[in-house]
Amino acid sequence: MDLVDLRSDTVTQPTTEMRRAMAEAVVGDDDYGEDPTVRALEEAFAERLGKPASLFVPSGTMANQIAFRVLTTAGTAVVAGRRQHVVSYEYGAAARNSAVQFHALDDADGMLAPADVAWAREASSYHHPAVSLVSIEHTHMAASGALWSMDRLHAVATAAGDVPVHLDGARLFNAEAATGVAVSAWAAPVTTVMCCLSKGLCAPVGSLLAGPDDVIAQARLERKRLGGGMRQAGVLAAPGLLALRDMVERLPEDHARAVRLAEVVAERWPACGLDPARVHTNIVTFAHGAPEKLLAYLAGEGVLAGTIAPETVRLVTHKDVDDAGLARALAALANAPDEGGR
Ligand SMILES: Cc1ncc(COP(=O)(O)O)c(C=O)c1O
Repeated sequence: MDLVDLRSDTVTQPTTEMRRAMAEAVVGDDDYGEDPTVRALEEAFAERLGKPASLFVPSGTMANQIAFRVLTTAGTAVVAGRRQHVVSYEYGAAARNSAVQFHALDDADGMLAPADVAWAREASSYHHPAVSLVSIEHTHMAASGALWSMDRLHAVATAAGDVPVHLDGARLFNAEAATGVAVSAWAAPVTTVMCCLSKGLCAPVGSLLAGPDDVIAQARLERKRLGGGMRQAGVLAAPGLLALRDMVERLPEDHARAVRLAEVVAERWPACGLDPARVHTNIVTFAHGAPEKLLAYLAGEGVLAGTIAPETVRLVTHKDVDDAGLARALAALANAPDEGGR
């Protein structure tokens, strides 16, 4: 039996066209700036995001870490949401790589409150560390793939004042697909933005960081310092170009399937803290008292789910989950045992 893998959208297989493009890619030594396919990808991404320049890096985590190294100084604070990837899921990398601490804000709905950002900045006049960066996440993974509102984004950027803003847009193209608002509009109020090609867009490897020319020039050095300089990386950039060109328009399919999952979860466990009306992209998270048992039961039904925190289950839809797979997952969830359910 084929497994229905809802653990993450990172499990997506590259398409046949992607594999062909990898085989045929024209390549050079990218560390010398001589790979035409990487250059084409960086130019296409910068243009799509409405930023002057961009840099291709191996992972979303590295893109975030490079942004922090360029935009922060040691001993300062980064304002970010408590459940953001940079705070909770990068194994302390910001402290290790950039010697910064987080001023962590409530982000239960995925967004930051402008007043909280203003407070953090003002607090530096009262013996708190200076704030060198505000970091946000859109869509917000741990908040069931929540979307920001454009008004809130502008208000937070205004509250940041002259402090730069970094957008972890690992799934920013899901935001574009869900709202019809172009990624360039979401990126306009921020200094730097990173997007992953290797999640819902199905490329095998890679993320990009976009921003001002001077920031990206510095980012190129930081990538090298972190060991992320690549050589004939055009074989990875070629599927990335197809990810940008072809894979955004199918994301609404994933979003519709995630809503169906959310509806069944909320019906099965009414007190699990999940409101299906607030699921707009491809991620469903909910509370469950015995997640290991639930995951084991689901695996027995041929459905893989994941956990992202104690008593927190996550289901993620993507290209490799079709309607038949969805039906199997819905039936398994609807018939899940009582133990641990809320
Ligand atoms: C919101 C968010 N940011 C960053 C990352 C990091 O991406 P990568 O796994 O490519 O390092 C992830 C990965 O799951 C993510 O969900």
